[in-house]
Amino acid sequence: MSEQKRGMHGIWTGRWTFILAATGSAVGLGNLWKFPYITGENGGGAFVLVYLACILLAGIPVMLAEAMMGRKKRMSPINAMKELTTEAGSPSFFRSIGWMGALSGFFILSFYSVIAGWALVYVGKLASGAMAGITADASGAAFGAMLADPAGLTIWHTVFMFLTGVVIARGVNKGLESALNILMPILFVLMLILFGYSLTTPGFMQGFHFLFDFDFSKLTTESIVVALGHSFFTLSLGMGAIMAYGAYMPAKQSLGKTIMWVGFLDTLVALVAGMIIFAIVFSNGLEPSSGPGLMFVSLPIAFGTMPGGIFFGTVFFILVSIAALSSAISIAEPAVAWAVEKGFTRVKATMVICSVAWLIGLGTVLSFNEWAEYKLFGKTFFDSLDFVTSNVMLPLGGLLIAIFVGWFMSSDMIKNELKMKNDTLFAVWRFVLRFISPVAIALIFINGLGLL
Ligand code: PHE
Repeated sequence: MSEQKRGMHGIWTGRWTFILAATGSAVGLGNLWKFPYITGENGGGAFVLVYLACILLAGIPVMLAEAMMGRKKRMSPINAMKELTTEAGSPSFFRSIGWMGALSGFFILSFYSVIAGWALVYVGKLASGAMAGITADASGAAFGAMLADPAGLTIWHTVFMFLTGVVIARGVNKGLESALNILMPILFVLMLILFGYSLTTPGFMQGFHFLFDFDFSKLTTESIVVALGHSFFTLSLGMGAIMAYGAYMPAKQSLGKTIMWVGFLDTLVALVAGMIIFAIVFSNGLEPSSGPGLMFVSLPIAFGTMPGGIFFGTVFFILVSIAALSSAISIAEPAVAWAVEKGFTRVKATMVICSVAWLIGLGTVLSFNEWAEYKLFGKTFFDSLDFVTSNVMLPLGGLLIAIFVGWFMSSDMIKNELKMKNDTLFAVWRFVLRFISPVAIALIFINGLGLL
């Protein structure tokens, strides 16, 4: 691979930018929207426990491996994997980590943009005051009406994809860095305000118990597969996003510490979002297992009654949209970086990739209305895409990464890049990556295949 490709996309300028960018990638619809609703669908506590175990035993070790590989090569995951497999003398089969990742990116971006479009719709709904004092029933009906309108959904899907494209096209430093510096802190503050509010609701403790009481009788094979898949989805793993961002990370920064921070912040946001949403769900007699609408139905009820709710509600959904945006760009980055290395301009690469993802996204739009009855193995187009990416492609990518870094890259190759001072910590990480993560992923995976 020619040397001019290395580092051609730019380097994060600030000391903290990688943390911010990787957290921006990790924290998104996965935490605010998906985590609460799949927790609701999978019975609560026991699911959360399995999810936390997956984050610790598979997610964080794989994340460190991905960031390390990216920084070592400083190019798109597809080209990085080409060089790494040659250097490690591993079967070229492991190159599929790069290709499959880019493909997963298309699929994920396609539905991610549709759901982010919902958040945009809700910015308008809250700002207009239409949700003031809304009842639980009316909130459910408003959500249903939005889903029933494919034209509306398509418009907002288009708007979101366009915004994503604009940020990506502007590049790593000018597009992303500046936006993230301001927006991420605001998101945290707003979540704290909402958390404070949720503490005052009568359903808080019930929600808390729902999330943290471990009732293993509710655990099914499917929920274990979903927990594993979600731990990859929420940490942006198994498809090259973190590898791509690692490629822009300054050489001196400690990878280990940084990754721990990202993993911690991402988990914190998910758990806080869960506590907020379930407090409102139980206070208003909503169904925790009501699916993708959970956040969109429950939060407006809270905003509708709290003082200053219109303001906070509007800002909140703006931030959900921004959290989604900072994730969406990272979903597209592996494919975009690769196309740029192939000789496309960044703008052209962005246009092509976003257009393809946009087109696939129409399938998701329709799966909530016109195509709602068309099901493959009992799943709509959106459900299938979500299932195959999160529960098959990402864990498979993670499995290959764990095996590749654990078994094929030499200690020297890795140590040079990690610069981890603590040898014990290195040994523990390598052990987990060699034995625990792959075995856990493989076991869950094999069991889960029966669900396809
Ligand atoms: N981690 C993001 C979220 O939780 C989604 C994502 C998946 C981003 C895969 C990048 C890669 O919303």
